[in-house]
Amino acid sequence: MQPIMTTILAIESSCDDTSAAVLRDNRLLSNVIASQKVHEQYGGVVPELASRAHQQNIIPVVDAAILQAGITKEEIDAVGFTRGPGLLGSLLVGVSFAKSFATALGKPLIEVNHLQAHVLSHFIVSSEFGVRSSEMATTPTFPFICLLVSGGHTQILLLKDYFDIECLGTTIDDAAGEAIDKAAKIMDLGYPGGPVIDRLAKEGNADAYQFATPHIEGYNYSFSGIKTSFLYFLRDRLKENPNFIEEHKADLCASIQKTIVSFLLKKVERAALDHKVRQVAIAGGVSANSFLRSELQRICEKHHWQAFIPPFQFCTDNAAMVGIASYFKYLKGDFADISLPPYTR
Ligand code: KG4
Ligand code: ZN
Repeated sequence: MQPIMTTILAIESSCDDTSAAVLRDNRLLSNVIASQKVHEQYGGVVPELASRAHQQNIIPVVDAAILQAGITKEEIDAVGFTRGPGLLGSLLVGVSFAKSFATALGKPLIEVNHLQAHVLSHFIVSSEFGVRSSEMATTPTFPFICLLVSGGHTQILLLKDYFDIECLGTTIDDAAGEAIDKAAKIMDLGYPGGPVIDRLAKEGNADAYQFATPHIEGYNYSFSGIKTSFLYFLRDRLKENPNFIEEHKADLCASIQKTIVSFLLKKVERAALDHKVRQVAIAGGVSANSFLRSELQRICEKHHWQAFIPPFQFCTDNAAMVGIASYFKYLKGDFADISLPPYTR
């Protein structure tokens, strides 16, 4: 007899990506993401426009996720959704949709914390993506360290269990992704700047320029100073040569990227040594960065640790990660009340 499986529909709408996914137990059946291009011209996410775009996207995205999964609505056992943190107007669209959909189906709701979802993305089983390509592919075992780096968050987390997560350190000001995006903006590279810096850095010399990193206690970070020193450095160079950025773009990208990645990983390495943990993961949008990925690999090889690097599809915001977090909550019987409001922080 076939074991009973749980089918979960998950919704993510915390920032500027509308996403829906279907999972059967921990296995991903579909993961549809509608990214919002409307923000590019403003150099950052405009909350009101994000909310409106979510309203336009949510039904087609959910429809596509169900269709691609090859299931019917009636097969869905629970609806998971990102409750927060994020932009209120964006969250409201996903939260309201999830509540209505679950009510219409007569199925339970599961609320998910966006940051936990990023971290738990390491437990998704999917046949489509490289490192999770087979049943044999390994997932991290507890305890392990995860560096969560996105446009809104930078944290070193110690995972003792799926929902027993200790925050060892966090940024005291800007997030790493925010710093990268601001550096890109200073160089007029468009928004979001992370992927552009990553691409241009491949052609540049990462040791061309040095930018000072601050001394911050423990496992905490600060990125606002790096951004300011980058800005002042360029302002001085531009006085001598108005084409400085254009002529040295690749070296600038490689150097600022190395500064930020080295700062991030120095503390991660320390945290893993101090906590005698031999498995280190990365998650969040910035974990798509190729230099961060290769540097983590190098450091882990040096210590004979295991590195866990998510497939690209699970780095930036997606509903698959909300689905896996929902699945683990489903197993615990941890369901949400329909009256729950979203939270922004
Ligand atoms: O996780 P995410 O999609 O949204 C938040 O929860 O913030 O992360 C978005 C961030 C942006 O700052 C973006 O520039 C950055 O991830 N990012 C990258 C790369 N791809 C996305 N940063 C560096 N290199 C990349 N390849
Ligand atoms: Zn995110």
